[in-house]
Amino acid sequence: MLAITYQDSQNRIGTEELNRYLQANKNVLEQVKNSRQGYEEVLGWMDPEEWASEQQLARLEEKAGEIRKNADAFVLIGVGGSNNAARAVIKGLKKEGPRVYYAGNTISPYQVHELLKELEGKSVYINVIAKNFETLEPGIGFRVLRKWLADNYGDQAGSRIIATGTPGSHLEKISRENGYTFFTFPESIGGRYSAICDVGLFPMAVAGADIRKVVQGVKDMRKLLYKTEGAENPAYYYGAVRNLLNQKGMKAEMLSFFEPRYNYFAKWWIQLFAESEGKEGKGICPISAQYSEDLHSVGQFIQEGTPMIFETFLDIKNQDASYILEKDLADDRFDYLNGKDLWEINKKAFEATYKAHIQSLPCFHIQVDQIDEYSFGELFYFFEFACYVSGMLLGINPFDQPGVEAYKKYMFEALGKDKPQE
Ligand code: PA5
Repeated sequence: MLAITYQDSQNRIGTEELNRYLQANKNVLEQVKNSRQGYEEVLGWMDPEEWASEQQLARLEEKAGEIRKNADAFVLIGVGGSNNAARAVIKGLKKEGPRVYYAGNTISPYQVHELLKELEGKSVYINVIAKNFETLEPGIGFRVLRKWLADNYGDQAGSRIIATGTPGSHLEKISRENGYTFFTFPESIGGRYSAICDVGLFPMAVAGADIRKVVQGVKDMRKLLYKTEGAENPAYYYGAVRNLLNQKGMKAEMLSFFEPRYNYFAKWWIQLFAESEGKEGKGICPISAQYSEDLHSVGQFIQEGTPMIFETFLDIKNQDASYILEKDLADDRFDYLNGKDLWEINKKAFEATYKAHIQSLPCFHIQVDQIDEYSFGELFYFFEFACYVSGMLLGINPFDQPGVEAYKKYMFEALGKDKPQE
């Protein structure tokens, strides 16, 4: 089970101060649990029974099974909340199955050519995911891949396309007209909260992840968060401490991990907190570091630079890989490592870093049992719930993204979206 602790050798937050804060804001946790702040229409993600029921999972598994049997390549077209959760799990677990490619998250013509080169000669299926189907990147990615499929499979192309969109959307319309399989992007779930519905679960299943275990992790975490109060509630505790740190000048939070398999999870986490909290001149800037590599870059700043960052270490308890360093023929002066396991060395590097960092900055330590489907489920729900609580404590709406909408507007103007087309 996911466990969280917090340490700061400079005691920036006193125990009494934290207890007072937790007590004074306990209604926030109550409101979140009872979904009572006027956000009812975007809280579909809070109850996995609604969008990840037995029936829904079986439907996704059936289609995923068909694709796994017939495909060498599966292209996930989507950006932001529409691909981040699935990509985190797929890249994190690397299961056997069709090779997964990503499109609709870049406008680089170079990347498009690279992707099309990779697909040559392969049996390809695609899944386009878009909530409102107006976003430029997935719109372009879908066009490119649709043409590629039509060129390669003729009138059979439609049977290789799965579209995930909101019921009643233009994407649904063209799916029906062209014979694509259509899955639901629930109206009641915003992009960055969409890990546990057709959006996140279907690509995970195609890639070979056991989506039932993901959902079980979500359910168990939900149970824990609904039955605990105050400091016992890990999401409320985390949200409260980060808000107090923010008030004390900590303006950035760094998610750090010693396992590169979390690189794409970090992207998901960054989007969740950046789009949810960064508004009205408020919020904590989420950043990430992949250690031990980044100890040789940002490590220095973290310890001795402007004191504006706190750190959240994401750690794995149970060993799942091993490489023993053998004695070398050359005298390279690394003999103190002879017979040692890289897993252990990596752990020691984590322990040493943690020890050093808590001297100068506040640190959370979040530990999961292992990196698997279940713990991804726990992490998704834990952070989504915590982000909701934390956003409420901060006094912003954690579910909109007005800034993103504004840049999209300028981009559409620049590209002449609403001008009459020839
Ligand atoms: O969280 C959000 O709502 C956004 O980041 C969206 O996921 C992102 O902009 C993609 O949107 P869409 O799926 O509508 O293309």
